[in-house]
This record gives sequence, C-alpha cells and structure tokens, in this order.
Amino acid sequence: MAKVLVIHGPNLNLLGQRQPDIYGTTTLAEIDRRLVALARAEGAGVDTYQSNHEGAIVDRLHAAQGRYDAIVLNAGALTHYSYSLRDAIAAIPVPVIEVHLSNIHAREAFRISVIAPVVRGQISGFGADSYLLGLRAALAIAASASHADSGRSDGAASMTDVPARRARSGGAPRRQRARQRRP
Ligand code: DQA
Repeated sequence: MAKVLVIHGPNLNLLGQRQPDIYGTTTLAEIDRRLVALARAEGAGVDTYQSNHEGAIVDRLHAAQGRYDAIVLNAGALTHYSYSLRDAIAAIPVPVIEVHLSNIHAREAFRISVIAPVVRGQISGFGADSYLLGLRAALAIAASASHADSGRSDGAASMTDVPARRARSGGAPRRQRARQRRP
C-alpha cells in the first residue's frame, strides 16, 4: 500500500480563520479529513503533520526516508527563504510535491519558492483542492515507482523522470543515487 506524508508548515494551523479572502474558510482539520478520505478511496495510507517550526519539519523530512513513498509539502512562508528545508528535500530520496492554497506567483514579489528546484513539482492556487491534487500526484508517483521496481520494460516515460534534477546530481537515476548514498 502506498504511503504518503502530508506536511503543513507555519501558520497553516490557523486555516479557516486566517485571511479567508486568500486562504478560504476550510480548516486544517477538514483538509486532513479530506486527505484521509481520498487516500482510503484510493487504497493508500496518509499521515498528516503540522508544525510552526522549521527544524521540526526538517526532522520530519529526514524521518520520512524508508517510511513513505512520497511527501506533499505546504511549507507556508518557509517556502520563500528556507535553505535548510531546500537542503533537506534535496538530501532525501523521497519525492516531494510542493503545494500552496494560493497562487504564490500571482502575489507579492517575495513569494518566490526556494524549494521549487528540488521538488518533483508544484501545485499552487486551487485552495484546499491543492492538497488533494498533491495527494493524487503523490499516488501517481508511487504507482509509477512501483511499476519501475517490478521490472517495467515498456519504455514509457515515467513521471519520476526529472532531467534537471538528474543533471544537477550527476546524471544518475534516482534509485541509483539512493544506492550510491547508502553506506
Ligand atoms: C501558502 C503561501 C505562502 O506564501 C504563505 O506564507 C502561507 C501559505 C499557501 O498555501 O498559499 O503561509 O503556502
């Protein structure tokens, strides 16, 4: 069974009351309920976690190795400046999907993403649905990885192929890189 971890960063515990004109009125508890329901309907498992602390999120990313097939991450404002989050994402073999309720590209200039270059992809601007779309992307990645693991030989393009990331890491495929990192 595919297992996905959803991480909510700073201030997302206030969803529902926090700037509803931007973030909507859906609470974090309701988003988590929808995520669990979708995962169950898809025969998958999901754990959710929220923290207002950068280091706690870094720890959680590290601990996800070997336990989850993919991570859906809304890093909140850490998205815009946290190089420790970026490095943590780059350091682990678990694919990360970046999500945002609001369309960060249509907002203030400082809302650029420093984690975007090291995530698998980004979903931004669909309100609470961004999380559900992120979970669907995570499950598709997990399914594609398990196909590849069971000796897929049809030559079809895989969603797990990220040429830019491979180029940065010396051109080795993800699983090979994971093997290289193991002692
Ligand atoms: C956010 C966008 C960020 O710019 C902001 O700091 C947040 C929430 C979003 O989900 O739209 O806290 O990540």
